[in-house]
Amino acid sequence: MDNSGKNREHWQSRAGFILAAAGSAIGLGNIWRFPYMTGEHGGAAFILIYLIAVLLLGYPLLVNEMALGRKAQSDPVGIFKRLAPQSPWWLTGALAVFTGFFILSYYAVVAGWSFAYIYKVVLAAASPGMDHALAFREHISSVVEPIVWQGLFVVLTVAIIAAGVVNGIQRWSTILMPVLFVLLLVLIVRSITLPGAGEGLVYYLKPDFGKVTGRTVLAALSQAFFSLSIGMGAILTYGSYLRKKDEITGSAAWVAGLDTGIALLAGLALFPAIFALGFEPGAGPGLAFITLPAVFAKMPLGGFFGVLFFFLLGIAALTSAISLLEVVTAWLIDEKGWSRRRAAVCMGIAVFIVGIPASLGYSLLKGFSFPGLGMDMLDTYDWISNSIFLPLGGILTAVFTGYVWGGTRAAREVGRGRKASSIVKIWVWLIRYVVPVLIIVIMAVGIYDTFVR
Ligand code: PHE
Repeated sequence: MDNSGKNREHWQSRAGFILAAAGSAIGLGNIWRFPYMTGEHGGAAFILIYLIAVLLLGYPLLVNEMALGRKAQSDPVGIFKRLAPQSPWWLTGALAVFTGFFILSYYAVVAGWSFAYIYKVVLAAASPGMDHALAFREHISSVVEPIVWQGLFVVLTVAIIAAGVVNGIQRWSTILMPVLFVLLLVLIVRSITLPGAGEGLVYYLKPDFGKVTGRTVLAALSQAFFSLSIGMGAILTYGSYLRKKDEITGSAAWVAGLDTGIALLAGLALFPAIFALGFEPGAGPGLAFITLPAVFAKMPLGGFFGVLFFFLLGIAALTSAISLLEVVTAWLIDEKGWSRRRAAVCMGIAVFIVGIPASLGYSLLKGFSFPGLGMDMLDTYDWISNSIFLPLGGILTAVFTGYVWGGTRAAREVGRGRKASSIVKIWVWLIRYVVPVLIIVIMAVGIYDTFVR
C-alpha cells in the first residue's frame, strides 16, 4: 500500500476493510492467548469479565481508532499531529508505534512455535502415549530451533509488507480463515465427546467469582486489547486507509464479534480436552501447544488435521503480524520519508533481534526474571506490552478524542453519512467518561495486586 499523501491507497470495499481488520484481530490472541489466560485466571469468571471489557472498552476504542484514522488519513504519529498541531499529543502515536514493534518481537516467537508444530504434530499424532507437555518443553528449551522459526516468520512478514501485497494476503485469508473456523468446529466436537469432558465444560461455563482479583481484571482487559488489536495503532493505521464515505460502527461490530466468537470457540475446543486428558488449565503459554496435539492424536487422520490446523494458525498469526509491522512501516514512510522496502527490512531485523531474549527465556535465560514480576521472558514482554502499554494507549486515545479533538467533532465524524443515532451518543459518553476512568482504575488495582500484594 502506498502511503503518500493524496495518492494514499484505500480499501476497495467495506468487506475488504472488515476482513483486513478482522485479519489483524484474529490470530494467536484468540487460539493461543485467550485459552491460557482463561486457564490461568480461573475459567468462566475471567471470560465474563473479558466480555464486559470487550463491550464497554474494546468496542468503543475500536470505533475511536477507526474514526481517528479515517479523519486524519495518516500514520499514528501523523494522525495526532494533524488533529492537534503544535502539541505533544503526537507522543501517543509514538507510543503506539513502539508498542507495535515490541509486541511483534515476541509475537514472532510464538508464531514460530506454530510453524514448528506444522511438522511436530504429525509425530505427536502418530505416537500414542506421548508426553505432550514434555515434548513442548523440549521444543522451547532448545536454543537454536525456535529462533530459526522465529526468524523465518519475521522474514515472511517483512516480505509481505515490503512488497505491499496486503491485498494478496487478504484474498488468501478470505479463503483460508473459513477453513480454520471449520477445523475449530471439528475440534470442538472431538473435544467435548472425550470421556471426562464434562468437568472442562463446567470450568469453562460456570463462573467462580471467588478467584477474581485485581490481577484477573487487568488480565481480562489486556486480553481484550490484545485480541482486538487496539491501543497500539494497528486499527488507527488500517482506519487511515478508509474512504471518507465508509461507515464505522457496523464494521467495528463485525470485527469485535468475529474476534470474540473465534476466541470463545477456541476455548470450547480446548477446555473439555484439557480436563478429559488430564492437563493443567494453568499451564501458561504452552497450553494450546500441549493440548491440541493430544486431541489430534485421538482423531482419525489426526496427523493430517494437525498439519492443517497449525498451518492455518500460522497464517492467522501472519495476518496479525502484518498489521503490527505495517504500523512501524507506515510511520517510517509517512514521517521519515523512508521507502517501504527499507522500512520493512530494517524494522524486521530490529524486531527479530529484540525478540530473541523472549525465546531464550526457556533455555539460556531460564530462571531469569525482573524483580517483582516473577515471570519468564516471554511473559514479561507480554505483560509489559499488554497490561501496561496497550491500556495506556487506550486511555490516551480516548482522552484525546473526548477532550482534545472534542466529543462533538468526534460524534460528527463517527456518525458521518448517518443520522446522529443514539449509538453515537452513547459512544461519546463511553469515550469521555467510562473508558479512561475504568482503565485507570483497573490498571491501578491490577498493578498494585501484581507488585504489592
Ligand atoms: N490481535 C492479534 C491477535 O489476537 C494480535 C495483535 C495485537 C495484532 C495488536 C495487532 C495489534 O493475535
